[in-house]
Amino acid sequence: MDRNLSSNIKSVAPIFEFKNVTHRFGHFQSLTDINLKIQPGERVALVGSSGAGKSTLISLLNGTLLPTSGEVWVLDRNLTQLRPKALRQVQRQVGTIYQQFHLVDNLRVIHNVNAGHLGRWSFFKAAFSLMWPQEVETAAKALSQVGILEKLYSRTDQLSGGQQQRVAIARVLVQNPTAILADEPISSLDPERSREIMDLLRQLSQETGKTLVTSLHAIKFARSHYQRIIGLQQGRILFDTSAETLTDRMIEELYNLHTP
Ligand SMILES: Nc1ncnc2c1ncn2[C@@H]1O[C@H](COP(=O)(O)OP(=O)(O)OP(=O)(O)O)[C@@H](O)[C@H]1O
Ligand SMILES: [Mg+2]
Repeated sequence: MDRNLSSNIKSVAPIFEFKNVTHRFGHFQSLTDINLKIQPGERVALVGSSGAGKSTLISLLNGTLLPTSGEVWVLDRNLTQLRPKALRQVQRQVGTIYQQFHLVDNLRVIHNVNAGHLGRWSFFKAAFSLMWPQEVETAAKALSQVGILEKLYSRTDQLSGGQQQRVAIARVLVQNPTAILADEPISSLDPERSREIMDLLRQLSQETGKTLVTSLHAIKFARSHYQRIIGLQQGRILFDTSAETLTDRMIEELYNLHTP
């Protein structure tokens, strides 16, 4: 291999790295000895049965949870060793979208989008913005990226589920993180809205080069929209493979559907 090329490849640090990560909730071991690296710009789908550990893994990626043993590295920092302020700085580089959107229903859309600034804005700016919205242009740009600019001043609870998920994505865009995590972002949406949100997340990742890690129950979207698929089973990685090499047999084994 060309020497420059090989040194370039080595120099690309992963965005996320798990080293022998185990996580327990009390006595219950939710993840066991996980090793993985996720490179900048990758689109990774996490699949597996209910209780397999997908949400736990997402919470470890964004530092909401810390490992019981092993190390979680995000952007070259070992999260376990960071002081709270440094941890928050790393967390700001990771935006998360949830199944239930996590929006404040009785606020106007612009305020929910501006919540993406909260890690950076002072308390006073945030409070002031609730009366006189700040950085309206940034919010408008994010809403137009997700296709609902006209909803800027609508009340959030008057939007459909698909539109609310778009608001949650716009909030993450305003945060401008290096990586986007999505924990079952389409589980509460109908098939048509699900496809639209999947298309949107893929397009945003492709256009901006942001890493995208998504937990999904819909294998068909994992296959069609992601490059790499990680199968979790009872807290362990059963497979970690490219979408092209994922076989029906692997999926049957993941969900214990195979007949012996
Ligand atoms: N706060 C908690 N306290 C105790 N156990 C928990 C807690 N959160 C999750 N668990 C357990 O850890 C395991 C993994 O849960 P997790 O939520 O990561 O699964 P999941 O793959 O996201 O499932 P789903 O597809 O249903 O969202 C489950 O057995 C769950 O019961
Ligand atoms: Mg979950």
